[in-house]
Amino acid sequence: MTEAKLEAWLDEKRAFAPSAAFVATANAKPSLYDEANADPVAWWRKQAERLTWEKEPTSTLEWDLPFAKWYGDGTLNASVNCVDRHVAAGNGDKVAYHWVADIEGESRTITYAQLLKMVCQTTNALVELGVKKGDRVAIYMPMIPEAVVAMLAIARLGAIHSVVFAGFSADALSSRILDSDCQYVITADGAFRRGAPSPLKPAVDEALQSCPNVKAVLVVRRTGGDVHWVEGRDHWWHEEVERQSESHTPEFFPAEQTLLIMYTSGTTAKPKGIFHTTGGYLTQCATTYHYIFDVKPSSDVLWTAADIGWITGHSYIVYGPLVNGVTQIMYEGLPDSGGRDRWWRIVEEFKATVLYTAPTTIRTLMKWGDELPKGRDLSSLRLLGTVGEPINPEAWMWYREHVGGNRCPIVDTWWQTETGSIMITPLPGITTTKPGAAMTPFPGISADVVDNEGNSVGNGEGGYLVITAPWPAMTRGIYGDPERFKATYWERFPGKYFAGDGAKRDEDGDLWLLGRIDDVMNISGHRLSTTEVEHALVGHPSVAEAAVVGASDDTTGQAIVAFVTLKLSAEDATKDQSGVIEELRQHVAKVISPIAKPRQIILTPDLPKTRSGKIMRRLLRDVAENRSLGDVTTLTDPTVVNMIAGLMQTENSSEE
Ligand code: WT7
Repeated sequence: MTEAKLEAWLDEKRAFAPSAAFVATANAKPSLYDEANADPVAWWRKQAERLTWEKEPTSTLEWDLPFAKWYGDGTLNASVNCVDRHVAAGNGDKVAYHWVADIEGESRTITYAQLLKMVCQTTNALVELGVKKGDRVAIYMPMIPEAVVAMLAIARLGAIHSVVFAGFSADALSSRILDSDCQYVITADGAFRRGAPSPLKPAVDEALQSCPNVKAVLVVRRTGGDVHWVEGRDHWWHEEVERQSESHTPEFFPAEQTLLIMYTSGTTAKPKGIFHTTGGYLTQCATTYHYIFDVKPSSDVLWTAADIGWITGHSYIVYGPLVNGVTQIMYEGLPDSGGRDRWWRIVEEFKATVLYTAPTTIRTLMKWGDELPKGRDLSSLRLLGTVGEPINPEAWMWYREHVGGNRCPIVDTWWQTETGSIMITPLPGITTTKPGAAMTPFPGISADVVDNEGNSVGNGEGGYLVITAPWPAMTRGIYGDPERFKATYWERFPGKYFAGDGAKRDEDGDLWLLGRIDDVMNISGHRLSTTEVEHALVGHPSVAEAAVVGASDDTTGQAIVAFVTLKLSAEDATKDQSGVIEELRQHVAKVISPIAKPRQIILTPDLPKTRSGKIMRRLLRDVAENRSLGDVTTLTDPTVVNMIAGLMQTENSSEE
């Protein structure tokens, strides 16, 4: 959203107060902020009572900036907290997941008792394969229940899961396996996408050619058909897991035991292995889930429409919901698998009460027309959430009216892989929401907007978003690289966590997130760095130089635009341009993922550079977004950028 558009919305002062009916039953009471903020550490200690501890912690926070320990002397088991204790409390028959397949008509209902059996059997199988406490296990799986089971079984052993989104390429998978030295991989033969099988195992086989330390691969049969098999290394899930005992006696681990690694893009070409530990992460996932989604475990059917390959899936499909013992919908497919009204049919069939998704999906659903949600009974919904990127007010209003029937509060939740759980959000039943604003820090969280010097800005002003006090689910660092952790997050504003986002405080002091201010792009809620894509492009033998920018896009939020200069070999000179461009797009898909394919590649004989030789990305972004070019006098050759703008225009008009 442009600054001017935002101002226009702010001027309208549109706001939605919670309804009396919602207030009456809301989990969040108005005293919550005061209680939490009077003594945040004590309040977070109280929230830890949501968990079952083997040994209750006596310490809450040890803070040696930027390294935190929460509940440091407590011991617990994540998997027991998610599953065993609900069964022990007599809720074994309660549904944990209504799993809905990509293919129409296929679904599975998994109760907590069944989940416990599956987790125990899988844990026993992992023990047999040699997995031990502290080992890293990579998961590269579609959205099937076994993916959740695998995560919980790994956690149950005190091992560490590193889930890699199944849309990533073999190269991306192998670099992640190598970085954290995973010795085991859990995968599936394939996944279903709009009814058609799409293989996964070949990517694992390719990735493992460069990962000699991987000892065993456990493979779920999902799609059927032939698979390449490495004897001694590869094992079928149905052969290894299903013959195991259905019980497993868990061990308990220190609160600061590492639970998970999740790779995310930073400003360099190499993704960072963000890791989270157990006690603090689970406490904040459970607490935020309870209040922000106003969870009523006895009646709710909650649907986080995300993939377990991202942190949203970890925190709000697996850990937050399971600790709360709720019933969820887990959906394998795409929004239009089996038709563009598929989501609304799922809401209707399972009577979903809460829906949590990304703005980019909302915009896509919106493009498909009002008739589709109107054609289904969505009256079970009582709360809606969004995450992943700033939501434009138009999409927010459409979500409210056409999905929420003007009755459901919307929570726009700001957080990051690094923060582990939601940090800035409205609270349903308390907050008067504004379309497009994430509003206020969650109770017990201290956030600020600061200027270049690190001073708080006043109301009506913008700046950089920082977090000013430690929080339970904060990342404990970048796996294997504490120095990079300090430098990336804690040095820009000493003593404060620098999120990398721009933010604005409006006249009422409420927070609006304005997007990344660094070289991180947000494509359909997926985080990618410009450098990572540039690196992939220059890795192609024909490319001399590449500059990548994120340009705003009506559907995907941002889209990748790449400016590429080719090495002029005789062979390339004879190729037609569209062929070269398509080859480069496929190359990026192969090196990173199809989600990283540039929307547009502009072949240009030169790139605009400053006299010191730096590529002027700001100018390229102006070009990519059709903005008029500002001051270009610092460029070595100002004509270059005009030439590129010309190339871009020719390209755009030929596409129309
Ligand atoms: C980046 C973090 C957190 C799960 C999904 C993304 C952007 C996230 C919002 C929001 C505006 C948002 C930020 C942030 N972002 N939520 N509600 N409003 N921006 O996790 O991949 O680690 O990306 O997503 O730019 O820094 P992630």
